[in-house]
Parts: sequence; structure tokens; C-alpha cells
Amino acid sequence: MEERAFVFTQQGLSDSLKRNPLVACVHYFPEIGSTNRQAFRLALDGAREGEIVVADAQTRGKGRLNRVWQSPPGVNLYVSAILRPRIEPATAPQITLMAGVAVAELLSGYCPDGVSIKWPNDVLIRGRKACGILTEMKASTGAVDFIILGIGLNVNMDREDFDDLLRGTATSLRIETGIAQDRLDVISRLFGFIEKWYRVFVQTGFAGMRDAWLAHADILGRPIRVVDRDASQDGVVTGIDADGAILMRQENGSVQRVIAGDVHLLGR
Ligand code: BTN
Repeated sequence: MEERAFVFTQQGLSDSLKRNPLVACVHYFPEIGSTNRQAFRLALDGAREGEIVVADAQTRGKGRLNRVWQSPPGVNLYVSAILRPRIEPATAPQITLMAGVAVAELLSGYCPDGVSIKWPNDVLIRGRKACGILTEMKASTGAVDFIILGIGLNVNMDREDFDDLLRGTATSLRIETGIAQDRLDVISRLFGFIEKWYRVFVQTGFAGMRDAWLAHADILGRPIRVVDRDASQDGVVTGIDADGAILMRQENGSVQRVIAGDVHLLGR
């Protein structure tokens, strides 16, 4: 596999990210359980904003809703950033949306057409998932102590590398561009976009990136089903508000604010 040449090393990662004003330092692990768990531990021990954990492989990569994130060595990005924004806990989910915009801009540089954000945390290329975002937080009364922003991006996976269950719905940059990508280059660009949008977020909250989010979302006017634990609701998306909640008009005409759940597009 030629992408094996694109190896991660502590030095290579530190050099690639040293000019990024957000990145305080890189903790690199050839293999780890989960970069999110490791970043959480570091943050509990007082790590600064901008310390990031990168792994070449994860043995217990965490997805949303206790799913497993497939994390083989040598091919993808698994990274978690420690953030310490001065915000209320209720605002924290907007960090997921912020990261979605950053990743969508990154991927659009490789695939100018076909990148879309699936609310709240997936970034797709031509309808298949290339990236998942998992944010976790620790908060004390009324204030966020820290947020762990975890990003899993499929870079050089081949179709046959995906588990059977994912093969039909997942993709990678390599599959979509036909070219093996340099992971150091990808992570350095990724953090360029994260730094840019995190700065906007800190100043304006989601409101300042709402238009950018909408430009990458193909959900407006679409019928959806929102599944949250055992309950589900159907409706048509009429917008996203300044707090990042989906606005969904139901059959009886009422408009619901959706702040959590899995979104399924209906009628496709
Ligand atoms: C999802 O779509 O379910 C979210 C997946 C998030 C996966 C990333 S990989 C890096 C970080 N460490 C983890 O254990 N999970 C996130």
C-alpha cells in the first residue's frame, strides 16, 4: 500500500502543526484505546486548550451512541482536541457543528462537489460518511471546564477495508479522489480550518457560522425522521436556529426545535 509511506511520527506531527495558533502541543500514540478518552484524562490533569491527542490506530475507538469507530492503523486520522471555551454547557453541542463546518471545508478542497454535513455530526462525500465527530464535555455548575473534540476521518481506507456493515454507507478521501493522501497534510489543513472556525465560534457562537453550515447542509426543505432513544418524530426541515437547533415543521403545522437525536432523511 503506497499510503504506508505517509507515516505518523511525533516529530512529523509536531512540525506539521507547530504554526497553528490553536495547537499547543501534540501527544502522539502509535496505538491507543481511544484518543477521546486519553484527551479527557489529560484535561482532567490540567492540560491546556489546544493540546491534541493523535493516534495511528485505536483499539476502542468511540462513536456516538456507544457505537465502535473502526480505527485500523496506517490509513486514517483519529484526533481529539482539548478546548476550554468560556461557554455555558448548553452551548457545547455547537462545537460539533463548528467542527462539521471545518471538516466540510477541508473535504471540499479535495472533492469540490458532493460534500455535505448531516446534522449534527457526520460529514459525507456523495452521500457516504467520511467523517464522524464526537464531542464530550466536563462541566461544573453553569460553566464548561473543557470539551473534547474528537474527529475520525477516513483518509486512505479502501472500500474492502471497511467492516461489512459500513461498506455501503462509508467512504474515504482516497475512494472519492482516487489518490492516496498524505495524512500529515490532511491533519495540518484540518486544524487550519478548525482554528479559523473556533475563533468565529468563540466570538459569535453558532450564529456567526450558520450561513457556512447551511451552505454545506443539504437538509433544508427535506422530510426527516429524528430518532432520539426510543422516540421518533417526522417533519420537514425549515431551518436551523442561531443556537444550532434544527427547526422541523410537523404535519400539524407546529414547528419543533430539535437539539438531539439521529436524523434520517426520508423519501430517498
Ligand atoms: C460518530 O460518528 O459516531 C463519531 C465518531 C468519532 C470517532 C473519533 S476517532 C477520534 C476520536 N476518538 C474516539 O474514540 N472517537 C473519536
